Amino acid sequence: MVKSPGFVLPLSSVFRPFLTSFPEKRLDMPQLAQRIGRAKPSAIMQIAEKAKQMKAEGRDIISFSIGVPNFLPGKHVYQAVADWLKKDSGQYGSNRGAPELLDAFLVHLERLGLNGYTRANCATGVGAKHILYNLAEALLDEGDTIAFPTPYWTSYVDIAEIVNAKIELLPCPAEQDYKLTPAQLDAALAKKPRMLLFNNPSNPTGMVYSREEIAALADVIAKYPDTWIIADDLYNQMVFDDVGYHNFVHVRPELKDRVIFVDSLSKSYGMPGWRVGLLAGPEVVANAITTMNSNHITSLPEVINAAAVAALAGPQDVPQEKCREFAQKRDEVLAVLDAIPGIVCPRPQGAFYVFPDVSAYFGKSHNGKQVNNDMELCAALLESKGVACVPGSAFGEPRALRISYTCPTPQLAPGMERIREFFAEMA
Ligand SMILES: Cc1ncc(COP(=O)(O)O)c(C=O)c1O
Repeated sequence: MVKSPGFVLPLSSVFRPFLTSFPEKRLDMPQLAQRIGRAKPSAIMQIAEKAKQMKAEGRDIISFSIGVPNFLPGKHVYQAVADWLKKDSGQYGSNRGAPELLDAFLVHLERLGLNGYTRANCATGVGAKHILYNLAEALLDEGDTIAFPTPYWTSYVDIAEIVNAKIELLPCPAEQDYKLTPAQLDAALAKKPRMLLFNNPSNPTGMVYSREEIAALADVIAKYPDTWIIADDLYNQMVFDDVGYHNFVHVRPELKDRVIFVDSLSKSYGMPGWRVGLLAGPEVVANAITTMNSNHITSLPEVINAAAVAALAGPQDVPQEKCREFAQKRDEVLAVLDAIPGIVCPRPQGAFYVFPDVSAYFGKSHNGKQVNNDMELCAALLESKGVACVPGSAFGEPRALRISYTCPTPQLAPGMERIREFFAEMA
């Protein structure tokens, strides 16, 4: 296992009580599989839980921690569910995904300019996380390498750990706008990892690759046929500043036999709890995921399919309106961060996260207490100002913290003002 300095989460005592820990090993009962010992509780959930508990105790808390949209799906989605329930069969569905859902996904793919796919290229899952997990199971043998840029979405590490893959981290610090360069990719793919996980727009940084940047990376990918490329691009409808969403197969359609596009209804349609994930890729991969489904979940529930079809094929005002709203919120958050001396924050152009490098403040004190790292800084911010952010080490970049700005609009300005005060008070 290749480990970066930020790889093992240094959980401070402030967050430790909120761990969902495994009980002590007992000798009078059978043991758990080794792989479960490699699975770690989510650092994001620890902070969210602590914030929730402080709120329950009557503290005034503003949460910038969890990356969930703060809106519900459109009325037509609920209508489709109500209509479906009148004719529900109560039966198992298709392992791959209901034909109507696959067709709605194909419509969505065409809207994104991803043409030429058929139902046979697609498969569904219980959220993108489930699809990513299944891809790791289906494409990696034990000990194979999975490469991905740092900062990364937390679950990449956990999934790799559970399937016992080697991890090759590709450091992309704020100095390079948190983006992977063609030279880095070239060096990484030359080592023939079985899988590259790529995420655009990015969670946690909100960075978006331009068409030129994607084209330059695609040129590198074209040289290396041994690596599956996972484009975990579920924030594809949350792109600002007219940058547009770009995928390797837009610029090099021949990469379709190696690039697997992963999408989800969670973020764009306000449906994280409905658990719908989708993929488009080579038939052989879609078939493998269908086989995994047949042995795990059998199918998505039929009523969920009905909701998903309505979301993907129905009116698209919800994702469009929310994208505009998030762009405005991004501006508001950046205006505050840019005015704080010492904070370095590459300008995000998508998703709903900003990821400022706050390391200039490590070693300073707040309310007389020294803050030495991202965990201590986030803990002090939560304790003193009631604002919950996620320490960057959860994403492999311990110099930063993540602000998720999906909170109700009236909370945004007060939350950011508290952050401004917090840094102004550090000495
Ligand atoms: C980059 C990334 N990939 C995958 C997921 C999982 O999404 P889903 O809710 O569809 O499982 C998330 C959720 O936060 C994410 O940010």
